Order: sequence, then structure tokens, then C-alpha cells
Amino acid sequence: MKTTNKQKSLLKCINVATNALFDAADGLTTLARYLHYYKVAHLEFKPRFDDIFIVTYPRSGTTWLQMILYQLATDGNMEIDHIAQKVPWFERLIDYRIWDSKDFEQMNSPRLFKSHLPANEVPKGGCKYIYVARNGSDVALSYFEFYRSHLGFKGDFNQFFKLFISGRVQFGSWFDHVASWEKMSKKLPSQVLFLTFEDLKNDFNNQLNKIINFTGFKILESQRADVIERCSFRFMKQHEDKFDHITAQIWEKGYQRSSFIREGKAGLGKLKLTPEQHSIVQKMLKQFHIENL
Ligand code: A3P
Repeated sequence: MKTTNKQKSLLKCINVATNALFDAADGLTTLARYLHYYKVAHLEFKPRFDDIFIVTYPRSGTTWLQMILYQLATDGNMEIDHIAQKVPWFERLIDYRIWDSKDFEQMNSPRLFKSHLPANEVPKGGCKYIYVARNGSDVALSYFEFYRSHLGFKGDFNQFFKLFISGRVQFGSWFDHVASWEKMSKKLPSQVLFLTFEDLKNDFNNQLNKIINFTGFKILESQRADVIERCSFRFMKQHEDKFDHITAQIWEKGYQRSSFIREGKAGLGKLKLTPEQHSIVQKMLKQFHIENL
């Protein structure tokens, strides 16, 4: 069937209106999220002196640091569902509105958090921060692969590179992020430990000592080999389900596995709803003239 001129103008109008509404909705969502984040993170959240924030631009070694700190702060056992339970992503729990200030209060000290916030947005108040920076070209490449594998990006690396270099990616400009934290580490050297992915790769033992000195966590010399082994790429790759992004989201959003194909029985509603609730359903069936149920 041929599209008439009237249909063509209607399509044009709908396209313009839809795009404008999506843009407006995005703007409002961003504003609402920011206000909510500001309220919880800056007005309600009470930082503690022994809080440690692991901060990075994505794809710079965040998960590696989460694992290192988990190993140093606990016995490091692997009976965990996901590292996010031990070192949760601070702003994301707020963003998803799963946690409020009470949940943060209930965490035992020392609280360990992951964050991708720039230096000016992270909660302040005497806590410590470990920032890990990674070579920008390596970050661009790793982030491109992540965009393709997790965010449905269909473009090629050239297209991604233009977005990355101009800061039009999820976490904004890599340059601004690293610069903000480099500045803060110079201003507050006792509170910010600035590490690089490359040093961790080339000289893990010494970087581990730096982290131990900075955080005050102690390990016995006999434990060191275990920590090094568990933080190795090989070990973490072998236990990838305890570190991956998808399982983290399941935990952060409070989803429960094995709860979708549930009981599959008929008539449970009548048993589990109150008689009042059940009779409301029955009355409404009549109002809607539904006869077959
Ligand atoms: P590549 O994509 O270059 O392999 P983040 O946790 O910040 O998202 O960083 C992810 C990057 O850190 C990935 O880089 C990942 O392979 C690397 N990584 C994670 N654990 C590591 C480890 N134990 N040793 C070396 N690199 C690790």
C-alpha cells in the first residue's frame, strides 16, 4: 500500500514529537537522579574516617582493586556471590534507589566502596580514596569492547573513539576524570592514594605494599602468596561470575534468581490473598463482564 502525503506528514510530526519527548524525559530523569544522588550522598550519607572509596574511570582496574581490598580487609574467602556484596558501587546503589542512608549506616566498618565519580562529586569527610588510572588508549579500547558486549553499541572503533575523546560516553571525559583526581591527590596526599594499572601489572608486590601502608590493613607474610594468587588475572578470570557486570546488576537491583518460573499451581491466589482481596477480584470480574474465569 502506498503511503499518502497525509500519512507522510503525520509520520514527520510523530517523529519530531517523539524525539522531543524522549529528550525532555531524558533531561528530567537526569535531573531527578542528580537531585536524589545529592540528597543521599551529600546530605544524608555520613562518611566515616575508615571508609575507603576505590575510584576509577571505567575499565581502569576497578574490579581488580575491589578484589585486592576485599583480600586485605577480610580472610578473602571466595564463598561470595559477587564482589559487589563486599565492595558495593556507591553511586549506583543510590541511583537504582535500592539503598538509602540507613542501608549505608548498617554496613560494618571499614566500609569499602567502588565509585566512578569525579573528585568534586565524591562524598567528603575524612575518608580515604584509592584512585586507579590507566593509559587512555588502553581504556578507550577496553571501553569500546565493553560498549559492544554490554551496551549494544553497533559502531566501529573509529566511531567510538570520537565519542570517547570528546567525552560523549557514559562517564564523560576520561581526561577530566583523571585530571580531577590527580589534582585531589596532590592536594590531599594523606587521603588519596593515586595508583596506575600499569604499575599494578608490572610491580604488583610493591603496589600491594603501598596499599597496605595507606589503608593500614595488615596481612601475615604467610598470607601474601594467597592474596597475590587470588588477585591474579588467571584466578579472577577463572571466577569471572563473581566479578562480572551482569551478576553485579542482578545484586544491585535486588533481583532474585530462580524466582521467575515459580510454582505453576492453579488456585494459590484464593489461598494466599485475604478473603477481602479475593472478593474484590471477584466483584471486578463482574464489573468487567468477564465470564470465563
Ligand atoms: P581489558 O578489557 O583490557 O582486558 P574495570 O574493572 O575498571 O572495568 O577494568 C576492567 C579491565 O581490568 C579489563 O581490561 C580487565 O581484563 C582488567 N582486569 C581485571 N582484573 C584484572 C587482573 N586481576 N589483572 C589484570 N587485569 C585485570
